Amino acid sequence: MEDFQYSEATRNILGLKLPTDPRWVDLAAIKMEAILTDHAWCEQKAANTCISLIQRYPRKTELVDALAPIVTEEWGHFRLVLQEIRKRNFVLGNQRRDNYVVKLIEFQQKGGSEEGRFLDQLLTMALIEARSCERFKRLSEGLEDPYFRNFYRRFMESEAGHYVLFIELAETYIDPEKVRKRWEEWLNYEAQILQSQEVRGETIH
Ligand SMILES: [Fe+2]
Ligand SMILES: [Fe+2]
Repeated sequence: MEDFQYSEATRNILGLKLPTDPRWVDLAAIKMEAILTDHAWCEQKAANTCISLIQRYPRKTELVDALAPIVTEEWGHFRLVLQEIRKRNFVLGNQRRDNYVVKLIEFQQKGGSEEGRFLDQLLTMALIEARSCERFKRLSEGLEDPYFRNFYRRFMESEAGHYVLFIELAETYIDPEKVRKRWEEWLNYEAQILQSQEVRGETIH
């Protein structure tokens, strides 16, 4: 086993229970085309999910107004990543099945109260943003190329803001105590997913 030498503060990034395996950045460094392709599709999915939430909950005014600009921002991210792909004469590869996201969706409450299902959709997004932020931090600190370090630092800051936004949106509609409790369950579940996954060098999640 590799040793995980992280400070308390790094381990606690955004409340995530487990850090990304440090080997991930080493693998990432040698597969930039795959990293960029995967990253581009993550941004596309983020934009899509925000659009779906607006379609599902048109009467939730705060949600619609908060997410409408995020759609633009995420699509802007997609375009930024695409620009990097083009600059390097890489090709935008196919979208891959994202087992991480599949596992998260499995944990979403399917029946029960409308409120519970709504909360789980927001917390899924908060978690994806938090984990993306953590991965971008690893890339911004671990990659050799100063250009890419800076490139990923900007994404890191942006996704951290989105994480906060999804939690705040949940608290706008749902008792913050309920949000906190369920968030804790999500964090524990996500830690299990991470532990069960092999190190993958080509994915942002
Ligand atoms: Fe993004
Ligand atoms: Fe985001």
